[in-house]
Amino acid sequence: MATSTLIIGGTAAYGLDLSPWGPVDEPFILQTPYGPSPPITLLQPDPDYPPVGFCSRHGREALKRSAAFLNHRAIIWGAKMLGVRTIFSWNGVGAIHERLEVGDLIVPADLIDFTRTRITTFGHPDLPPASGPPFHPDARGAILRSLPEPHSPIPDPVYVCTEGPRLETVAEIALYRRAGAHIVGMTLSPEVFLAQEAGIRYASLCYVTNYATGRDLGRPPRRQFGPEVARTCLPILLRAALNTEY
Ligand code: HPA
Repeated sequence: MATSTLIIGGTAAYGLDLSPWGPVDEPFILQTPYGPSPPITLLQPDPDYPPVGFCSRHGREALKRSAAFLNHRAIIWGAKMLGVRTIFSWNGVGAIHERLEVGDLIVPADLIDFTRTRITTFGHPDLPPASGPPFHPDARGAILRSLPEPHSPIPDPVYVCTEGPRLETVAEIALYRRAGAHIVGMTLSPEVFLAQEAGIRYASLCYVTNYATGRDLGRPPRRQFGPEVARTCLPILLRAALNTEY
């Protein structure tokens, strides 16, 4: 089994009915040195293109496992075992920047890591430490070209990753804002750094699911964690995978 692209689903990927996107055979689990990968399904929505791998980062039964408890190394090593060269993922995020609204799609250009307990390296003697931009410019470009409206209210969005599973305090979000972060989530570290170490290009599509703590700014509170998130993000990332020209 081999595929050059893996899509890692975040918010609402659990329990997603994949039948509209041409699943090939049953999902399979890879045994990695770090434990089993999540179930991976090959999707082939267009027979003229090779299949694309898909897995749900949080597993398949609702959001039982928060990002702090995910086996990030098993996911990324599993991708390496499949021969994956590019990972596209989607992630729910809270909006810190005032121009962002619930439902906006953001392709982050950089990341600030405020996690505390996660293992951010394979520690493998043959793998050089991660360096350079965490989000690969070409992979980012492929997602940007696949967006329904190629518009971002922020030119180079910065994602801050927090430890969770608790939500941030008002003071923490104010700190991250002053540090230059536009969106906040709990999932991209260490996923992106492990991918970099494994030599896999990585880019993410962030769906604004809520205003970050204290950042509703008088707007009616809105939360979008439902299947809409997956139904929006998966087709965009499949397009990015199928139209990747690099
Ligand atoms: N904070 C952290 N992670 C998140 C949020 C948030 O507001 N929304 C979605 N993931």
